[in-house]
Amino acid sequence: MASHSTLLALLMSSFLFHTVVADASDDYCNFPAVFNFGDSNSDTGGLSAAFGPAPPPNGESFFGKPAGRYCDGRLIIDFIANSLGLPYLSAYLNSVGTNFSHGANFATAGSTIRAQNTTLRQSGFSPFSLDVQSWEFAQFKSRSESFVKQGLFKDQLPKEEYFSQALYTFDIGQNDLTAAYFSNMTTKEVKAVIPNILDKFTIVIQSVYWQGGRYFWIHNTGPFGCLPYVLDRLTLRAPDVDRAGCGSPFNEVAQLFNQKLKEVVDQLKKDLPLAVFTYVDIYSLKYELLSHASLHGFDSNALLTCCGHGGKYNYNANFGCGSMRMVNNTEVLVGKSCNNPFRRIIWDGVHFTQAANKWIFDHIVGGKFSYPPTPLKMACKKN
Ligand SMILES: *[C@@H]1O[C@H](CO)[C@@H](O)[C@H](O)[C@H]1NC(C)=O
Ligand SMILES: *[C@@H]1O[C@H](CO)[C@@H](O)[C@H](O)[C@H]1NC(C)=O
Ligand SMILES: *[C@@H]1O[C@H](CO)[C@@H](O)[C@H](O)[C@H]1NC(C)=O
Ligand SMILES: *[C@@H]1O[C@H](CO)[C@@H](O)[C@H](O)[C@H]1NC(C)=O
Repeated sequence: MASHSTLLALLMSSFLFHTVVADASDDYCNFPAVFNFGDSNSDTGGLSAAFGPAPPPNGESFFGKPAGRYCDGRLIIDFIANSLGLPYLSAYLNSVGTNFSHGANFATAGSTIRAQNTTLRQSGFSPFSLDVQSWEFAQFKSRSESFVKQGLFKDQLPKEEYFSQALYTFDIGQNDLTAAYFSNMTTKEVKAVIPNILDKFTIVIQSVYWQGGRYFWIHNTGPFGCLPYVLDRLTLRAPDVDRAGCGSPFNEVAQLFNQKLKEVVDQLKKDLPLAVFTYVDIYSLKYELLSHASLHGFDSNALLTCCGHGGKYNYNANFGCGSMRMVNNTEVLVGKSCNNPFRRIIWDGVHFTQAANKWIFDHIVGGKFSYPPTPLKMACKKN
């Protein structure tokens, strides 16, 4: 992680950098499609399609209604698609009203890299782990190619060449680490499973590569030790809270995961010579935002949940955002309790608000938080 002063310098120059590169439009990659793999941080409707919709007030700030996202509005992946001139990604699992002309989204909320040995009902983790998402992708690719060859569904499926020209985005891993903690592993034990988690990650990247994928944009994992659902559930196990109020052991694990992920990406660069990899440091941005919220125009009580109920963080696992709770024999919606979600960072105790997602996107798009420092639109170029 960059030191704070370095980080601030990067933050201040990242907008400027974006403007400067804008002149070199001939060099842009023109990605015709995005294929995304991940968890709730980038789910645009996958879990909703299979297990019931994300309830209101999700979606309220932008879509005006629930839109399959666990957020008041758009996610980082939405800002990515939009800035590449592409439509928002349809969830692969959605069977109605979808359009995959410019990509597909295999992410579902609660997804892990490693398949879990518990059901969604038992543990809250999605059955669509990363290996499943990669099988879905293989099906999607081979079946759409076969339809397009027959001249069928051309206006809702990608062109054949898009699979090698697309940007493949990944944002997954956080739930592997929280799942391990929630199964009562010690920090030492969680650290010990990281290599196994990343081995499974590598297998999926290789599989996409052998199917023709070339451009990989990989987000590292965020400081989940700052999230109310982790702090609330593991509170007795986190005596070490840092100045930002985040659980230090959890964030230490996230950082170890990221360090190893970066090594894995460096190795993949060597093993898969035709691919271009961009590793994006989401962790530093999220931590910077949460630890200096007012400096960046957000309310100072950074860890407080906007849509929730009760407790230190306005978060209670039994009364989640959009659930109903009984008050004097009447059902009441657990809705937005903050006046202005545009000034809040934490949406529902687990996920970031649209405003926070936009802030993060604005800082990664220019490349200052990427290794190598590649702007989004140049992520097809080898350094
Ligand atoms: C699930 O169980 C198998 C067999 O015991 C084990 O190899 C695997 O690591 C387990 N997965 C997780 C995520 O704990
Ligand atoms: C899907 O989107 C593409 C590009 O935005 C558009 O050309 C096409 O007509 C759409 N297909 C359907 C079935 O709406
Ligand atoms: C973890 O420990 C708590 C407290 O002892 C217990 O209630 C819970 O069932 C345990 N969870 C698992 C998955 O073993
Ligand atoms: C519930 O009812 C009690 C007694 O009538 C009343 O004092 C209280 O304000 C009510 N609570 C809410 C949230 O309406």
